Amino acid sequence: MNIPEIVKIADDLIFSHTGQHLDYLQEAIIKGTLEYKNYTKIAEEINCSESHLKNTGAELWQVLSDALGEHITKNNFRHILNKALFFSGKDYATVNNNINLCSERDSTKVQQQTEIEREDDIVKTPQNNESKQPISDLSYAPEILNFSGHSSELSIFKQWILDNNIRLITLYGLSEIGKSTFISYLITQIKDNFDYIIWRNLSEVHHFDKLTYDLRQYFGKFQQQTFPKILDYFINYRCLLILDDFQNLFKTNELAGEFLPEYQDYSKFFQEVVTLSHQSCLIIISWEKPRHLSSLERNNHHLKTFHLKGFAGNNTEILQENDLQDEDKWSELIELYQGHPSWLNIIVEIINDLFNGSVANFLNYNQELFLGDIELILERHLSRLSLSEKKVIYWLANNDNYLDIFTISSKLELSNIEFLKIVQSLERRCLIEKVTNNGDKVFQLNSVFKQFLKGFININ
Ligand SMILES: Nc1ncnc2c1ncn2[C@@H]1O[C@H](COP(=O)(O)OP(=O)(O)OP(=O)(O)O)[C@@H](O)[C@H]1O
Ligand SMILES: [Mg+2]
Repeated sequence: MNIPEIVKIADDLIFSHTGQHLDYLQEAIIKGTLEYKNYTKIAEEINCSESHLKNTGAELWQVLSDALGEHITKNNFRHILNKALFFSGKDYATVNNNINLCSERDSTKVQQQTEIEREDDIVKTPQNNESKQPISDLSYAPEILNFSGHSSELSIFKQWILDNNIRLITLYGLSEIGKSTFISYLITQIKDNFDYIIWRNLSEVHHFDKLTYDLRQYFGKFQQQTFPKILDYFINYRCLLILDDFQNLFKTNELAGEFLPEYQDYSKFFQEVVTLSHQSCLIIISWEKPRHLSSLERNNHHLKTFHLKGFAGNNTEILQENDLQDEDKWSELIELYQGHPSWLNIIVEIINDLFNGSVANFLNYNQELFLGDIELILERHLSRLSLSEKKVIYWLANNDNYLDIFTISSKLELSNIEFLKIVQSLERRCLIEKVTNNGDKVFQLNSVFKQFLKGFININ
């Protein structure tokens, strides 16, 4: 159904309910909503105040809700119309002076459908409340044991997903930095906006065909009509699909973020997710930023990439549940271990076991950064690097150098092109980061990773 057709249906509904046709503002809101624009954008385009537009919008959704007997908001408007038309076979009838989008038989179908959804929610969503609940399969999402900080990151994600209709987001970051927990927490805040929320872990299901089969089976439990492609469900329902541990689909011992040949189908899927018009969102969670998404990101504003980092030193909440002493030293400890929750948990355990909880004593004891079991986490990253990447990071670790793309050490025996590719790849793996040195942009090795590498062979 195209936009003029939907506007016509909305106009008929409003007319049948109020005896008046859509006015200019109402029509602009409906068109803007169907084009996935937020109120700010619509207000800008028609030169009207945003608050006035929002008030008009609220009244409009209320009239439409009354006319259709279903709670309609800006977020679910397109979906509800599509759903109603789908069940009615696009054949709507006038009942009691209202235009009803469903025939009696079909409305039973919708009602049954809604009941299945509710039943499912009772089983799967513990904090069931009266607001609309999605059908969700979060069995692979991590349980949220602790969640602190990341409030600005949460706001960014909410804005991207709910206001800007971003269709594909890649969340990447070091292992155990809190990526899966962050998305799990985000879901608790945005779930009411979706029809389906599905979490899949790609250490369980790999091939795209297998994923498609698995998801179709899942949707099939709730929908009579099945579609051949995941994208069809994205278009017909508002879905949030999370693909976790995505790095499992990338090559190891080569440059970062490159699909293994057997998983190339995912890149076509991404392209479609980004370029076709829908209100669903795919979130990819990975240790590495996918390489081919960079070019898509430059050309399409429905795609975003986010590097999740640790907490800032002043966010001491993460240490508060532990019986640690010397509160004045907590920020120093958090900064030293980059606000990385798992690294900090490892260190806190050592401080409690061996230093009677004294952070000051722990910090004074070590001349160098103590790693302990953090090494096991870092080893996962090291084992994925290419030979040339290893060459560069060992050199960086052992020379206390910044990495400046304009002054390549001859000892590395790399051409400029090779060197640039390696820098890009190490950045995609979150192992180096851009800093400013005397006004120049240079790269530096992650300090914890650097400490880990110091014990290894010096290539000089
Ligand atoms: N915001 C947070 N506040 C407190 N603890 C956290 C937070 N985020 C994550 N953690 C803790 O850090 C650990 C790692 O989190 P999580 O599994 O989400 O990391 P991850 O980045 O998904 O790791 P991986 O890439 O290896 O899958 C967990 O024990 C989790 O409870
Ligand atoms: Mg994870």
